[in-house]
Amino acid sequence: MMRAAPILLALIGLGCGPNTPPLEVFNDMKHQPKYLPLEASPLFADGSASRPAPEGTVARGELREDTVFYTGKSGGEYAANPLPLTMEVLQRGRERFDIYCAPCHDRTGEGRGIVALRSNWLPVNLNDDRIRQMPDGQLFETITYGQRTMPGYRFQITEHDRWAIVAYVRALHRATRGTIQDVPPELRSALR
Ligand code: HEC
Repeated sequence: MMRAAPILLALIGLGCGPNTPPLEVFNDMKHQPKYLPLEASPLFADGSASRPAPEGTVARGELREDTVFYTGKSGGEYAANPLPLTMEVLQRGRERFDIYCAPCHDRTGEGRGIVALRSNWLPVNLNDDRIRQMPDGQLFETITYGQRTMPGYRFQITEHDRWAIVAYVRALHRATRGTIQDVPPELRSALR
């Protein structure tokens, strides 16, 4: 045993040089019959070692069963916003709207954003009656795929945030037609 120790140490030392490949005493497990990804194989009818995923396989986290949430539609009809209307959702919607929509539509939704002001490209006024009457699902779809000259934002904005923006567009609708009656009585004097 005592005599084997220096030999063992020497072997370990040999394997640890900064630039030398490690010494292989026994065959390493990396040397074994196996298929690398996308290698050819005579085992399967299609000649490939990689097997296609069974039909209907869904990657973890990619199950999109909630049709309304992902498409804005239910049975071919535009659906209502599936998110709960909480202050958190509205604040998220405002933040995302100010980032993604305000450059063209401006922060009030009127359509006088910086991009519009510097070009002759006219965004729609989001407070128009036509937009007010659109179902939530149609606004969601407009953000997802765009409409005529407006580009879609499905790659930049997640489904959740698109719905949060839809909720915030509704808040803008209320704000732009607000009257003094909407202000709590104790705060009205501050406005005059
Ligand atoms: C790059 C500029 C730009 C950005 C950013 C933008 N829009 Fe638009 N949007 C437009 C233009 C331009 C139109 C008018 C399209 C047309 O009629 O050709 C439009 C039209 C619309 C319409 C009306 C669609 C219709 O059916 O007439 C809605 C609703 C809308 N935008 C919502 C949004 C929302 C919400 C966002 C943020 C997620 C957004 N837009 C971001 C430029 C933009």
